[in-house]
Amino acid sequence: MATLVTGGAGYIGSHTTVALHDAGRDVVILDDFSNASRRAIDAMRSLTRADLVVVEGDAGDPDVLDAVFGGHRIDSVVHFAARKSVAESISDPLGYYRSNLGSVISLAAAAIDRGVRRLVFSSSATVYGSASALPVTEDSPTVPESPYGETKLMGERILADAAAASDLTAVMLRYFNPVGAHPSGLIGEDPSTEPANLVPRIMQVAAGRRDRLDVFGADYSTVDGTAVRDYVHVMDLAEGHVAALDTETAPVSSRVYNLGTGSGTTVLQVLAAASEVLGTRIPYEMADRRPGDIEASWADCTRARDELGWQARRVLAQMLADHWNFARKHPES
Ligand SMILES: NC(=O)c1ccc[n+]([C@@H]2O[C@H](COP(=O)([O-])OP(=O)(O)OC[C@H]3O[C@@H](n4cnc5c(N)ncnc54)[C@H](O)[C@@H]3O)[C@@H](O)[C@H]2O)c1
Repeated sequence: MATLVTGGAGYIGSHTTVALHDAGRDVVILDDFSNASRRAIDAMRSLTRADLVVVEGDAGDPDVLDAVFGGHRIDSVVHFAARKSVAESISDPLGYYRSNLGSVISLAAAAIDRGVRRLVFSSSATVYGSASALPVTEDSPTVPESPYGETKLMGERILADAAAASDLTAVMLRYFNPVGAHPSGLIGEDPSTEPANLVPRIMQVAAGRRDRLDVFGADYSTVDGTAVRDYVHVMDLAEGHVAALDTETAPVSSRVYNLGTGSGTTVLQVLAAASEVLGTRIPYEMADRRPGDIEASWADCTRARDELGWQARRVLAQMLADHWNFARKHPES
């Protein structure tokens, strides 16, 4: 039996594929390569020494899903495939609702049809919006501030309803801010579209591909005026998926977990840490806030610790060192 990983060629999906393989699972990847490169597949094959099965197609296409479930013995699903830019979702909301929710509905229907017992869904801390109290727990109010965030919250609701009406168990993982790369430097963040996140942009400045970093928002009510996030190593996240597949959550049919480190770091603090780890000064300039960005967010991860036995283990310096190791080895990415 195998685990279907949609979006398995992408950033978090590729690291999770390797972690699943290391945990002894067979993996089938479904990816349309809209934001990933085939290089990631070669790198995963050389890391795992396995002939990973890769299907190219849209995770929202029922015919593609029919072929995938018909052609492979799949007993669990991890659903990463989605469009993920907050800014793009504001300019193309219908495209985001169609793509991100279409794939959730088609995939859940196919999985339930084929008797799949567990589906793990990539959700996001963005569902909390500007939290009224920090750290956020899974019971904090959910008020997404962008169509992207709405697709994550709606995706959770769709899966919770579908699970309640079937034998499927749905586990929603709300990631905070993934950073870092596999320690080998073979896989990492390698999007085909321009990255909107802080750390990939810092790496582009360090590599000389950008003159400076724009720091979006210097007037937030935080220690230094810049936005606060909970950065979490992508390898820790990958291990969180293995735990989410392995841990029994019965008697509930669906459960939500925060995956973060539990502490927040400002943009300027990340910049200072990056300058130290990379051994180079990162030029930056203060810029206006970006629409859809929130002031501060960090997680309470007690539930994941208590119920999944999962805890983030890697610190910010390691996240930055590993991210840089990959970026340095892949100047084309
Ligand atoms: N990276 C983050 O900061 C972050 C934070 C919270 C949640 N998430 C969620 O985690 C998931 C993975 O994020 P990521 O950073 O690895 O993104 P990514 O873009 O690197 O990976 C997504 C992968 O899915 C593929 N894909 C997109 N739409 C598809 C479709 N319809 N059918 C098949 N494949 C498709 C892309 O080609 C890509 O390989 C996404 O659902 C994202 O919303 C990401």
